[in-house]
Amino acid sequence: MSVVLITGASSGIGYALALAYARRGDHVVATARRADRLAALEAAINALPGHGDILTVCADAADSAAMQSAVDQAVARWGRLDVIIANAGVGQRGSIVDSDWSDLETLLRTNIDGVLHTIRAGVPALRRSGGGHIVLISSVVATMITPYAASYGASKAFVSNLARSLRLELEADHIGVTDVILGRTATEFNEKRLGHSGRAAKAPIIPVMQADAVAAGIMRAVERRQKRVVLRLFDRLILLGNALIPAWIGRRALKQYRT
Ligand SMILES: NC(=O)c1ccc[n+]([C@@H]2O[C@H](COP(=O)([O-])OP(=O)(O)OC[C@H]3O[C@@H](n4cnc5c(N)ncnc54)[C@H](OP(=O)(O)O)[C@@H]3O)[C@@H](O)[C@H]2O)c1
Repeated sequence: MSVVLITGASSGIGYALALAYARRGDHVVATARRADRLAALEAAINALPGHGDILTVCADAADSAAMQSAVDQAVARWGRLDVIIANAGVGQRGSIVDSDWSDLETLLRTNIDGVLHTIRAGVPALRRSGGGHIVLISSVVATMITPYAASYGASKAFVSNLARSLRLELEADHIGVTDVILGRTATEFNEKRLGHSGRAAKAPIIPVMQADAVAAGIMRAVERRQKRVVLRLFDRLILLGNALIPAWIGRRALKQYRT
């Protein structure tokens, strides 16, 4: 039985992860901003047979004090913390110069500050537990040229790069780090994206994964203490394209994302 902290657990991948960990009997501390959604998650977990315990905490990941409080509440209840999944994130579309600064700031504070605050609040508790594991949720766009989605792509490049260095910083503490290079998944993510919607009608058909399958893949990666995980062949091909024909992919993205 592990104690697992998941940020962004009120919908999508974080919600699926919280359900899946609780279903197998692990204790879950689930954070997000929407209290009603967290209450729905708690009810769903409490309806599972033989479920683990659930603690929901309303916390903005960009608020370091709120993240510290979430960790402190988990440790007060269960005496330890074993896994941290820094999942909370938002998307943004629009030009770097003409987008509203408030959108760019929200993206940076969530996808970058939020990940850092989650790690900085949680790692001392992992150390006191004798080790553990951290999961960072990146994206196939981390290595893609993404005009008009540049802030999001760059934020995920930050996450993937951070994962590589953090792994070495925490090695001696017996804390592993998994970088999840994720492709398109059916969640609320697209409809909540900040900025303009782009040429949605002309968007290429990209196959989507289901959040439950993504959660199962992430849990497997944690068990295996994988450094980096890409969950399907389609995304491996995208990564190959990013490496071999980055300019062509960038031009395709330009056509798709520019309004
Ligand atoms: N879906 C995809 O196609 C896809 C592809 C690659 C990577 N990803 C990454 O996967 C992760 C999960 O996204 P998802 O697809 O599951 O989208 P989602 O359904 O929109 O979930 C995002 C979660 O993040 C939370 N969140 C957003 N801002 C927050 C903040 N400031 N503080 C705390 N929580 C916050 C949201 O909860 P509240 O609004 O209640 O706070 C929500 O629970 C993100 O990091 C995303 O970048 C998604």
